[in-house]
Amino acid sequence: MPATCVVGLQWGDEAKGKITDILGDSHQFVVRYNGGANAGHTVVWGDRTFKLSLLPTGVLKPHITSIIGNGLVVYPPRFLEEVEQLVSAGVPVGSNLVLSDHAQVIFPYHMEEERLAEADADGKIGTTGRGIGPCYQDKVGRRHAIRIGELLHAKHLTERLKQIVPFKNRYLQAFGGKTFDVHQLADEYLGYAEKLRPHVADTTRLLQAGLAAGKEMLFEAAQGSLLDVDHGTFPYVTSSSSLPSGIWAGTGIPSRHLTRIIGVIKAYTSRVGRGPFPTELNDGPDGIGERIRKIGREFGTVTGRPRRTGWLDAVALKYTADLAGADEVTVMLLDVLSGLKEVKINRAYMLRGERITHFPSDAYELDQCEPEYETLPGWSEDITGCRKPSDLPTAARKYVDRIQELVGLPVSMVSVGPDRAQTIPMK
Ligand code: IMP
Repeated sequence: MPATCVVGLQWGDEAKGKITDILGDSHQFVVRYNGGANAGHTVVWGDRTFKLSLLPTGVLKPHITSIIGNGLVVYPPRFLEEVEQLVSAGVPVGSNLVLSDHAQVIFPYHMEEERLAEADADGKIGTTGRGIGPCYQDKVGRRHAIRIGELLHAKHLTERLKQIVPFKNRYLQAFGGKTFDVHQLADEYLGYAEKLRPHVADTTRLLQAGLAAGKEMLFEAAQGSLLDVDHGTFPYVTSSSSLPSGIWAGTGIPSRHLTRIIGVIKAYTSRVGRGPFPTELNDGPDGIGERIRKIGREFGTVTGRPRRTGWLDAVALKYTADLAGADEVTVMLLDVLSGLKEVKINRAYMLRGERITHFPSDAYELDQCEPEYETLPGWSEDITGCRKPSDLPTAARKYVDRIQELVGLPVSMVSVGPDRAQTIPMK
């Protein structure tokens, strides 16, 4: 059974949505396994742009079954809003969208908890404010977590909220936050539950049956590998396993069924929120960092925050490509670098006077690393119309070849614009 995973190898926003959209046609299932509405997947079809935060990109194609796996944290109003947006754009959404009864529910008190935690300057991570971290905290803490399946039983849900909300209120009050009314919350969420009901199922059983029937599956990672809660730049990470290792836990499909893992990277690096970023370009309004931000439209899909930008970091990429078990790499947004005299790639770090070629396991150490760049010639041509490798200027091809050498994986695709057609197969 061919199962593919599309995973970002940087700090998220690698334009994975475009790759999953292109590959989606040949799969019967498109599955999300981690995160929640903190992701931002943009899919461009001609003059239409779809921005999805929670729903898998497969939902744009009604013949595909799109799954929100048990590993996600779901804010019901967001789910319903995204469905509504698609329906009003003429994209039918029905039984093709399935939500795991084991996924966790985000409540407004999770967002309030996050707001208070982020207001503390020392503890700030720069999160998306969508309640992701506090909801995952409740999941592993068990006592205060509510699963999607529990929303479907009115009496049970009210009992659970009666147990949880007073506890949350005491905590929130202690930090000067907003408090919540049990009955109001119960009414609100029971209202959502009726709309969610047709989509809720045991997705593990559904996927296992698909597996047995030889259906092709595409697993869509949210965030990037450097934001993985175990292997990323902790604590400046998200609260889930964004690496393909999250698939087994987050869907119930054993990872050994994966036959293709595609690592998606940008031709440069970006990051939102706080945390170390050795190749960041802090070069002011006329500098290359700002130019990349403008041309690459590097503003968060979810929060609109300007993204931090910098050169490609091959040391970090080798680290995440190995962790992800990537078979190949796709290079996105190569067109954004057009017009630069030269382009740089980091190939080693200087850490306290010592040259290292591995990714430090400690974010504090990474913060002290100075990049050692390799400089390559840039290209001035507009490459947005290139459709095959030989259309690319020599310098752009050399840049892609060098990425391939440094990461040690074949580059299978290069993207030169947001539209599906602006893609160069490299094989
Ligand atoms: P959280 O996932 O909202 O808890 O945020 C934790 C960190 O992950 C913050 O630095 C966010 O900016 C970052 N983050 C979360 N989701 C994404 C994403 O989809 N793309 C890029 N960064 C993200």
